[in-house]
Amino acid sequence: MPEPVPPAPPTRVPGGRGLSLLVLSASARSGSWNLKLARLAARAVEANGATVDFATTADFEVPAYDGDAEQADGVPPGAVRFKERLENAQAFVIVAPEYNASMPGGLKNLIDWTSRFRPQPFNERQALVMSASPSMAGGNRGLWALRIPLEHLGARVYPDMFSLAQAHTSFSDDGELADPLLRERFATTVSNFLDLVEAATHYACAKTAWVEYLGERSDPSYDRVQVG
Ligand SMILES: Cc1cc2nc3c(=O)[nH]c(=O)nc-3n(C[C@H](O)[C@H](O)[C@H](O)COP(=O)(O)O)c2cc1C
Repeated sequence: MPEPVPPAPPTRVPGGRGLSLLVLSASARSGSWNLKLARLAARAVEANGATVDFATTADFEVPAYDGDAEQADGVPPGAVRFKERLENAQAFVIVAPEYNASMPGGLKNLIDWTSRFRPQPFNERQALVMSASPSMAGGNRGLWALRIPLEHLGARVYPDMFSLAQAHTSFSDDGELADPLLRERFATTVSNFLDLVEAATHYACAKTAWVEYLGERSDPSYDRVQVG
């Protein structure tokens, strides 16, 4: 008699959660530590049963924000593409270097252009932010700066962040994090984030309006306010 086959343990099938995440590296530099970390994040997202749309900021090149140019020509194609990729995702992950204790100017500029669309594409989207730097702080100050415009725009930025310190010595040859404790911390952060995205996407129970300042009224002249 053949041995009875035990039931398969529950597995997280790639794509099985019905979730798609945009994973964006804010550095496209060849040899970029943030690009490496973003690729790792993409792998972790897929291992948790969601699909990944991978991009770098080089995919969304835009000129410096200029209100006259917007008036004359509208929002540039790079920001249109970014908006579309955001809209096709339930959540997004941004992996960004720290420049002078803040986020890269190009990333902020892309966020500014993209914030001009209505409906405003960051609003109510779940977000996870990460950074990598050769420094001991891992670029974490840049993430606090990045949280500000994202949260201002209504993104639900996950409280935990992942900042990889001494990035130049932290990857093994196969692109994984060399330190087992860090590897565990990274995997847990992504997995917990995806649990929240799944809950927020499929079992949403609360909806709120994004209003920039309390007391502001919906009026076409206040073009940064979106109600309902
Ligand atoms: C203009 C500029 C400012 C920088 N400022 C910081 C900083 O404030 N903190 C930090 O940890 N690293 C800083 N760095 C170093 C970056 O962390 C390092 O260049 C990193 O490799 C950039 O990310 P990437 O490898 O993904 O391209 C700065 C680099 C540049 C070019």
